Amino acid sequence: MKNLLNISDIGADDLTEIFNYADKLNNELDESLIGKNIGLIFEKNSTRTRLSFQVGINQLKGNFIDIKLNDLNMQRFESYEDTFEIMSCYLDFLVFRSTDHKKLELASKFFKKPIINALSDLSHPCQAISDLYTLKEHFGRLGNFNIIWMGDMNNVLFSLAEVMSFIESSKIDVFTDEKIYVNSHKKFKSFSNINYHFEIRDNILNSADSVMTDVFNSMNDTDNKEEILKKFQVNDQLMSNTNKNTVFMHCLPAKIGSEVTKEVIKGPKSIVLKQAENRLVAQRGILKWLET
Ligand code: CP
Ligand code: NVA
Repeated sequence: MKNLLNISDIGADDLTEIFNYADKLNNELDESLIGKNIGLIFEKNSTRTRLSFQVGINQLKGNFIDIKLNDLNMQRFESYEDTFEIMSCYLDFLVFRSTDHKKLELASKFFKKPIINALSDLSHPCQAISDLYTLKEHFGRLGNFNIIWMGDMNNVLFSLAEVMSFIESSKIDVFTDEKIYVNSHKKFKSFSNINYHFEIRDNILNSADSVMTDVFNSMNDTDNKEEILKKFQVNDQLMSNTNKNTVFMHCLPAKIGSEVTKEVIKGPKSIVLKQAENRLVAQRGILKWLET
């Protein structure tokens, strides 16, 4: 059975299949989700992921059902495990944004149908698939990517590193604070495609295809990292050391003035709107891949 809790749940062939479905459905929609009922659980806020799944499911003629865990009998005495087992009696897939990746893993043991991780504290696989799709579309190739990541070592970076490991001759240069690196090392230690830097180095910026960042404090983060990360802000001065083809990317939502300035995010190198638009394209590819 297919699941997408992390990118490690799929192989390079699955990624190719997802991209092919995404392209095909972008040219012409079909009815691949007809008769399918898909549960959506969002324990944290979401604009892009929620709406792109809802619209994607509608376009492919499926039904989505918004589930609020607080409304279920789990709030009384029914167990978490039984709740997810029961949900699989009715639903075909589940899209789940969870505050805790361990809860997502537990849910997937009991929900007997495919589950898609719509972001957890650990990872954001749908974002990574979509961002790689955007890079492929923008540069017209799927390989030799030099990515710069500025700031926090978070869920978006984790899935980006996972998806980039499928891609030939590609690397991620991460500029971050040393304390964050030490705290995140255990989670990131298996990635051989990341180089870490604690000071900005202009020569690396010059070869970047994309400069990426994300909020310095993710949803439910308990530490405030804005102060220690402020030197890694993506601003005009930093972008002036990149090359003429370098693009700026951000999964959004952005805290303008914190990890990125308004000039950069609204500037000519920014492709954030294309990235957001491609969430829908990629979501349809993921849904079709799950269904087949
Ligand atoms: N990028 C992203 O996942 O956005 P939302 O939190 O709005 O879904
Ligand atoms: N790292 C961010 C991503 C939001 C899409 C968060 O988890 O809040």
